[in-house]
Amino acid sequence: MKVPVIKVLWLAVLPFIWAQPLDNNVDNRDKTSLCQQRTPENPLHGCPSGTILVSPSHQKASFSTIQGAIDSLPQDDSSHTILILGGNYTEQLNITRPGPLTLLGETNHPEDARRNTVNVLWAAATSQGIYTDNVFTSVLIVAPSLNASLTGYGPTGLPVPEDTPFGCRDFRTYNIDFRNVYANQAAGPAHALSLSRANGGFYHSGFYNFQDTVFVGKLGNAYFHSSIVAGQTDFLYGFGTAWFEQCDLVLRGCGGGITAWKGANTTDENKFGVYIHNSAIKPANSSVAEGNHGKCALGRPWNDLHRSIFANTFEDGTVIGSGYVPWTGPIPTSTFMAEFEAYGPGFNLTARNVDNYSRILDADEWKPYSSPKKVFLGNVGWIDRKSGP
Ligand SMILES: *[C@@H]1O[C@H](CO)[C@@H](O)[C@H](O)[C@H]1NC(C)=O
Ligand SMILES: *[C@@H]1O[C@H](CO)[C@@H](O)[C@H](O)[C@H]1NC(C)=O
Ligand SMILES: *[C@@H]1O[C@H](CO)[C@@H](O)[C@H](O)[C@H]1NC(C)=O
Ligand SMILES: *[C@@H]1O[C@H](CO)[C@@H](O)[C@H](O)[C@H]1NC(C)=O
Ligand SMILES: *[C@@H]1O[C@H](CO)[C@@H](O)[C@H](O)[C@H]1NC(C)=O
Ligand SMILES: *[C@@H]1O[C@H](CO)[C@@H](O)[C@H](O)[C@H]1NC(C)=O
Ligand SMILES: *[C@@H]1O[C@H](CO)[C@@H](O)[C@H](O)[C@H]1NC(C)=O
Repeated sequence: MKVPVIKVLWLAVLPFIWAQPLDNNVDNRDKTSLCQQRTPENPLHGCPSGTILVSPSHQKASFSTIQGAIDSLPQDDSSHTILILGGNYTEQLNITRPGPLTLLGETNHPEDARRNTVNVLWAAATSQGIYTDNVFTSVLIVAPSLNASLTGYGPTGLPVPEDTPFGCRDFRTYNIDFRNVYANQAAGPAHALSLSRANGGFYHSGFYNFQDTVFVGKLGNAYFHSSIVAGQTDFLYGFGTAWFEQCDLVLRGCGGGITAWKGANTTDENKFGVYIHNSAIKPANSSVAEGNHGKCALGRPWNDLHRSIFANTFEDGTVIGSGYVPWTGPIPTSTFMAEFEAYGPGFNLTARNVDNYSRILDADEWKPYSSPKKVFLGNVGWIDRKSGP
């Protein structure tokens, strides 16, 4: 295929544009992709010094499991990087340490989450009846303590003691897929990710299951960039704050809604909620698309203080005419289920206005939520600036 010259020039220029740091924060992506390149002789080639290697088989690996490497780290503020070689790892990961931690997945295609080579797999669901809380089903847990991570009940979850510390203040994954493979359809809560009282950035990563895929709980701040979340029922849920940028929300069926959020009655300023920006809602395949045309909801309120916004996001024809749906009964005015400049066959303004569940925001109404810096209340140092706000 003949490539037009102008395009080639652009491609040559782009890396330099991207490499411009937006501010003084460290820009990680160039460093991470070099380290992630597959270099079988010396897998740590191009990695930050001190990077820990994980592989079940490579002779240079220090650990055969990812959690083994995590458990070797001190519970302090030091920064660490773990490189994981391609393969399937059947284990639960649990990060409680406060210091920065980056998990890198080996890949020659760091810009394409569809080609990730590292899978972390776990099969557990609350419907098994053996767990006292959804968190125990999670493939990846990021929280300072068990109580802080519990889904709990009520608008703020399980109360934790005042002196509970904040967990990881800068946790990151690059090119890693987290799959809860308990069932091939919605079978009750079965988390891929549970993040509470921590800051987590997920880049070119994947979260796959069917129900309650990504949970962002108490004081959790989660940022997803160029990542994939595939689910069926309430697959983004919680009561912390989450921002999805250039992500694919993949419908494997529909049930509940894509977002099931709740808010807390608090006198503190907060922007608890889930914000989906410059992203796309897509069916997993053509049979899902055919079987669910006009049936899948953008969300439903877990409590009256649900806040979610789909902004500048493509909505496939699987999305239901009303956009959102109620949980039970009428939707109170405190519920904030919104769209801003959503587009695509799933966005039918006439149908939205019939039920009036969604708020269709104008630019002024969107403005207070229009960047990660705004919704995370200025706390964004943990976001990779290259993909960041
Ligand atoms: C690794 O896991 C994926 C996803 O569940 C699966 O499709 C694949 O068959 C597994 N590969 C091996 C070698 O077990
Ligand atoms: C995560 O690890 C902490 C510290 O070891 C532990 O107390 C907690 O129970 C673990 N969480 C889960 C869900 O297993
Ligand atoms: C965790 O919560 C339980 C039940 O609410 C409580 O009994 C326990 O003391 C808490 N544990 C810690 C370490 O705070
Ligand atoms: C389509 O995706 C759904 C959900 O992941 C799956 O159950 C089904 O087998 C897929 N169908 C085809 C034809 O691949
Ligand atoms: C928030 O507080 C008000 C006033 O106390 C109460 O009516 C409402 O039910 C509370 N909402 C939630 C979600 O707890
Ligand atoms: C839609 O609902 C809002 C309250 O959420 C109300 O203020 C507005 O008047 C309603 N619009 C229509 C057309 O019914
Ligand atoms: C949009 O919704 C209206 C009202 O439900 C319906 O009559 C119309 O056919 C829909 N348009 C499309 C393109 O689906």
